[in-house]
Amino acid sequence: MQPVQQFSLQRSPTTGLLFGLIITLAAVLAYASYITVQLSGLRRLQSDMVDRNRKDSLQLLRIQNDLNSIALAMRDMLDAAEPYPLTAWSAQFDRIHADLDAALKLEEKFAGANRTPEQRLYLNQSLAQFWDAVNRMFALAGASKEAEAREQIRLTLQARQQALSTAVSRLLVENNEGEEQAAARIAHIYDSVQRQLYLFLAATLIAIVLTSLYLIRANRQIFARLAELSEQRSDLAQKLISTQESTLRHISRELHDEFGQVLTAIGAMLGRAGNQAPEGSPLRADLQEVREIAQSTLNNIRGLSQALHPVLLEEAGLESTLDWYIPTAERQTGIRLHYEKSGQPFPVDTGAGVHLYRIIQEALNNVSRHAGVTEAWIRLKFLPHALELEVEDHGKGFVTGPSTPNGNIPRGIGLVGMRERAELIGGTLEIAHPAQRGTLVRVKIPQDKLQTHAA
Ligand SMILES: Nc1ncnc2c1ncn2[C@@H]1O[C@H](COP(=O)(O)OP(=O)(O)O)[C@@H](O)[C@H]1O
Ligand SMILES: [Mg+2]
Repeated sequence: MQPVQQFSLQRSPTTGLLFGLIITLAAVLAYASYITVQLSGLRRLQSDMVDRNRKDSLQLLRIQNDLNSIALAMRDMLDAAEPYPLTAWSAQFDRIHADLDAALKLEEKFAGANRTPEQRLYLNQSLAQFWDAVNRMFALAGASKEAEAREQIRLTLQARQQALSTAVSRLLVENNEGEEQAAARIAHIYDSVQRQLYLFLAATLIAIVLTSLYLIRANRQIFARLAELSEQRSDLAQKLISTQESTLRHISRELHDEFGQVLTAIGAMLGRAGNQAPEGSPLRADLQEVREIAQSTLNNIRGLSQALHPVLLEEAGLESTLDWYIPTAERQTGIRLHYEKSGQPFPVDTGAGVHLYRIIQEALNNVSRHAGVTEAWIRLKFLPHALELEVEDHGKGFVTGPSTPNGNIPRGIGLVGMRERAELIGGTLEIAHPAQRGTLVRVKIPQDKLQTHAA
């Protein structure tokens, strides 16, 4: 017994596939947004911290450079060998002052939040005090108090310059440290992005592999089910064909034997009775008439019996049956049939012969019903190892269109039956388009399959 569940509808794999697709898409989206956030963080870090820091350091270096120039100038001023008065340096100091102010303004802008208010206050105050002292020194020098002015340089100015220089150096070091921290943070972000990338790749790969495995499994189940259904359908069709064939053979035989014998007997008795009736009497004429009716009924019954199941097949074989059937079919359908036989004939078993006979019947039926022509060709070819049977017409051909979901062969029980019969005797059926338009039905059966079959 087959398990009942096999006949229920199988669950469609669409839900599972959609689920897999959604998971994969969600992973991609999540990773994309994660990457976007990380990248914008990186960009902020880069422009806000690193670039500003670098510009700030440049200004600090400029300030330090100015302070160095001041230190050199003061050393020259204290040099006893110098022939110039101290006021000669006043212009140089003014220039440095202006440059320092400009540098400080820029530095303050770039340093921004990096600098504490105390640091800023200290720098500004120290510089202001330094310039006050410079002014005082030049005032003394202007008043020809050179010795006092030099004293001022030695005692106050040099120390203040030193302190300023140290403060600027400290800021530079701080900037450097900030830059290193930013670099470390950037490296950290890169590391985590890379780690997430591997995780993401692994997750999507797993999702894809699982979905694919599921798809493959579902596909295999569907194909197995399909193959099973197709086999069942084929079994059913072949059983129906066999049943039909044996029923038809039985009826045909009963008609031929029972009714045939009865009618033959009636005909003989009527003949004898007629002979006993007086010559020229109406009874004799009536008996003769009834006898003719019995004879024509007998002929009809024989014809019907032949049509249902040609006894000829059993008695004389396929070739003779076709020799009888084709002119009959020509009369019945009104189609001119060109019958060609070729090759070296070999015997064909009755069982196989019945199926070939039915295939020709159905093919000719189709020509007369669908092709819209008055001419057809039938070819029986005895090939070296196979028998080939063709029915060709140059009519409409198969109409393809949306009503034919399985491609170019329309649905119809006649075609299915022909194919099943061909397969039942181990052959193949092919429907082709001849060079001219129309339809060509071709059945090919290997020779060894034609000698051992029963209907
Ligand atoms: N010789 C032919 N020429 C044109 N169309 C044909 C021919 N044979 C079959 N067909 C088409 O194929 C369809 C299926 O044929 P068949 O299975 O025999 O079913 P049925 O004859 O009962 O319609 C037909 O309806 C017809 O459209
Ligand atoms: Mg048909």
